[in-house]
Amino acid sequence: MLHFSDHIFLIFSIILLSNSAAFLVGNPPKKENGILSLAPRDQMTESKEWTRLAIQRLWAERELMGVTPIHVISPPGLPALKIVFKNESASTTGSLKHRYAWALMSWALLEGHVKNGTHVIEASSGNTACSLGYMCRLLGLKFTAVVPDTIELVKVKRIEEQGGSVVRVPISDRLIIAEQLAKSTGGFFMNQFKNAFYAEEFHESGSAPKASANLMHELLRQLNNTPPDVFVHPAGTGGTLSSIGRYAKKYGLKTEIVLADTQYSVYFDYVMNGTFSKNTGAHHWIAPGMAGIGYGAMGPARIAQTTSLDPAVIDRVLKMPDLASTAAMKVARDIGINGGTSTGVNFLAALHIGALLPSERPVTVATILADSGKYYETTYFNRKWIGAKFEFHGGLKVYDCWCEVIKKCFESGEDPLKIGQKACKNF
Ligand SMILES: Cc1ncc(COP(=O)(O)O)c(C=O)c1O
Ligand SMILES: *[C@@H]1O[C@H](CO)[C@@H](O)[C@H](O)[C@H]1NC(C)=O
Ligand SMILES: *[C@@H]1O[C@H](CO)[C@@H](O)[C@H](O)[C@H]1NC(C)=O
Ligand SMILES: *[C@@H]1O[C@H](CO)[C@@H](O)[C@H](O)[C@H]1NC(C)=O
Repeated sequence: MLHFSDHIFLIFSIILLSNSAAFLVGNPPKKENGILSLAPRDQMTESKEWTRLAIQRLWAERELMGVTPIHVISPPGLPALKIVFKNESASTTGSLKHRYAWALMSWALLEGHVKNGTHVIEASSGNTACSLGYMCRLLGLKFTAVVPDTIELVKVKRIEEQGGSVVRVPISDRLIIAEQLAKSTGGFFMNQFKNAFYAEEFHESGSAPKASANLMHELLRQLNNTPPDVFVHPAGTGGTLSSIGRYAKKYGLKTEIVLADTQYSVYFDYVMNGTFSKNTGAHHWIAPGMAGIGYGAMGPARIAQTTSLDPAVIDRVLKMPDLASTAAMKVARDIGINGGTSTGVNFLAALHIGALLPSERPVTVATILADSGKYYETTYFNRKWIGAKFEFHGGLKVYDCWCEVIKKCFESGEDPLKIGQKACKNF
């Protein structure tokens, strides 16, 4: 069986061979009779004008976006700790991907990848598709989302509400099928896994309040320019955390950037050791994972190709058990933080980090409420679904154990990961 990398190599070799063959038989470039051909000016001006107006429209959208609110809690057991949630569920399309989709579209317009009439295609777990669908509708562009076949119906509906079409595929095939679809339709594959570098870096610009859609840029102002001690978040594409990490590093902030990776994701090893950049970790993946985050089934993680997670700006990596994160979603919801999969991971990770930090001085751990829990009613908040999908992990017994441990540690200030890893095993 061929590996993914072998395919690439094979294709590359064929291209090389066919090029050199053409060269050998002599296929000289066509001459234009020495006359420089003039660009058809009217047509060109018209399309540039469309692009100029489209970029203006995006800036108007940036004004409308405003600033997502923060929600700050201090766990009763850790009074010196402030956990700051940047509430991205309050964005226009309901997730952290609103600003990311804006930045991707802005880049694609500027670089001429998207023009009047371009069919835009994206691989997504749902949230990016909804936000990008919104941007496409704003600009009058056709949009198709390639999503995993395990997607929640409510997320499909959100994409369709934006006028987007949805193609469901096995999670491991998303990138390949999106690429093929773009080729066969002449459309543009936005590829949030590959192109975050352009999107987030190009548009991040210093101190002007709304010049950047970078989340850290916005959060710093909300914290009166006092950098948080820690920023913790998981990674799906890695685009969000990398944009935060790059911002922190670029401006020399003292914020420690922590990746909270999911249980069967390869990102932990990818960041620590560079493993899985050549070989796939797909055989390590165990479903269902945490929707939208972690990287497992999609082959090797290659920076700026199949992932936007930049190890250079990550300071530390944590590994979070999936069922514990699912339980954390419930405990967080019970104290008024109604978030999805990554919010559960973040709540648990923040309690863990907070428990280990020195308690004699105030400490701020910043993180993200990335999307609303209401998208997960039939899945990660549904006991029947949890029992069935996480049977391998010990099902509801282990889930209930984690719920209790996390709730107790929220009250006591102890480390829920340490306690739960012992208490919620071996039933
Ligand atoms: C709810 C949620 N949180 C986090 C992420 C991961 O964000 P990123 O892809 O920027 O790493 C996603 C990605 O889809 C998501 O849907
Ligand atoms: C965009 O393309 C459509 C369809 O080809 C055309 O009718 C319209 O005039 C174009 N808009 C601009 C601003 O060029
Ligand atoms: C986050 O924003 C949503 C939408 O505005 C709001 O309903 C929710 O209460 C907020 N959550 C928190 C924890 O502030
Ligand atoms: C990284 O590689 C070193 C040396 O090969 C090994 O000892 C270590 O366990 C690896 N760490 C991870 C996280 O894979």
